[in-house]
Amino acid sequence: MNKHLFLVALISMLAACGQGSGSKSADGSASAGSDVKMIDLVTTQDGSALKIDAKLFDTPAAKEFIATGKNPYIGVEAEIQAGKKKFNLYSCVACHGGRAEGAVGPSLQGPNFKYAKNATNKGMFETIWHGTNGGMGAKGFGLMQADPPDGLKPDEVLKVIAWIRSNSAITGNE
Ligand code: HEC
Repeated sequence: MNKHLFLVALISMLAACGQGSGSKSADGSASAGSDVKMIDLVTTQDGSALKIDAKLFDTPAAKEFIATGKNPYIGVEAEIQAGKKKFNLYSCVACHGGRAEGAVGPSLQGPNFKYAKNATNKGMFETIWHGTNGGMGAKGFGLMQADPPDGLKPDEVLKVIAWIRSNSAITGNE
């Protein structure tokens, strides 16, 4: 009797243990696919949902951005310089000027913007990624009309924004 009870207890312990580790690993693998808590991005055109493949957020900075809306590259000199190169490469400079002071396109220095949300890094990310209705083309990866697909990866957008903010009185992370 005692022996029987012991076996029952042992078996249920083992079962619980198996269940525990089973659900733990199931949770673990489930959250490995979606452990990035993603903020909701919206287009600058009409505020509708802006969906970007989570896989494109493939650096620590990009992951932090999509979790928090903050740009970790603000004020980081090496990233600012990398962003400046992209700002030139993607012709932002032609329309917005060498220090983002404005040319045929508006100044990006702020603190006031045509689209007020561009005072935040989340808002400026959305504008650069998906463009506007008024002459600013989408620069997000896969959205530029180019073959093969071209455009800025999320990490690169963050560097470009860090460059823009380095010419500005605001950081966008406030
Ligand atoms: C062909 C010219 C052109 C290029 C190239 C261009 N832009 Fe623009 N951009 C514009 C125009 C025009 C606007 C104003 C859009 C509007 O009024 O809807 C604008 C608006 C913006 C805004 C919003 C400004 C505000 O006041 O709200 C941001 C941010 C911006 N551009 C960033 C960039 C970045 C970064 C790049 C390069 C990756 C870039 N632009 C490339 C023409 C351009």
